[in-house]
Amino acid sequence: MSSKLIAPSVLAADFANLQRDIEMINASDADWFHIDIMDGVFVPNISYGMPVLKAITKHATKTIDVHLMIVDPDRYIKTFAELGSDILTVHYEACTHLHRTLQAIKAEGMKAGVALNPHTNINVLEDTINDIDLVLIMSVNPGFGGQSFIENTFNKVKDLKALIKRKNATTLIEVDGGVTNKNAKQLVDAGADALVAGSYVFKSDNPTATIKDLRALANS
Ligand code: DX5
Ligand code: ZN
Repeated sequence: MSSKLIAPSVLAADFANLQRDIEMINASDADWFHIDIMDGVFVPNISYGMPVLKAITKHATKTIDVHLMIVDPDRYIKTFAELGSDILTVHYEACTHLHRTLQAIKAEGMKAGVALNPHTNINVLEDTINDIDLVLIMSVNPGFGGQSFIENTFNKVKDLKALIKRKNATTLIEVDGGVTNKNAKQLVDAGADALVAGSYVFKSDNPTATIKDLRALANS
């Protein structure tokens, strides 16, 4: 069994000390940098954009996992590739031609991810799962850090894992929103491969230790 991965969400970092927080993640047990891009249209919030991502990738030494919460993401696939994204995840709800979008992401040399809002059933991926490198299950409504975890996520992860197995796919499952030490183990047991954690890491007294403990718990 491969290791379960931890992806701290930079959205919860201290933007006035961004380099310090990036270097903290570099030196920690974290696996990926989770980067939340919000456009104020797909979600009711605007996070940060290209110049900030450029500043992050200048210092980050781990996989750059970009979560696009934007309408019409096809417009920016090339830009995010040029900015150093390793994984580019688009929302199912924002794509009219998802299959085409996935091919376009891969053509730029990135891994292709699809995010599902809490209301979207995993069955909508039945016909594309073999083309998807990663499915990001939203365990809160996208737009903000620090929200409470939606309990139905456990069932969704189990259902998605069953779909992946049934289709002989190699897709990874990532869970995003309200992840803490209270749900991490249960998420992994349900089939999650990667866990995003924002507030839980950055609002803790010792983020490095929190990442270490969360990763150990996920792999216990
Ligand atoms: C929410 C974002 C999340 C967020 C997670 O729309 O997609 O990645 O940063 O933050 P926490 O862990 O605080 O829920
Ligand atoms: Zn996210």
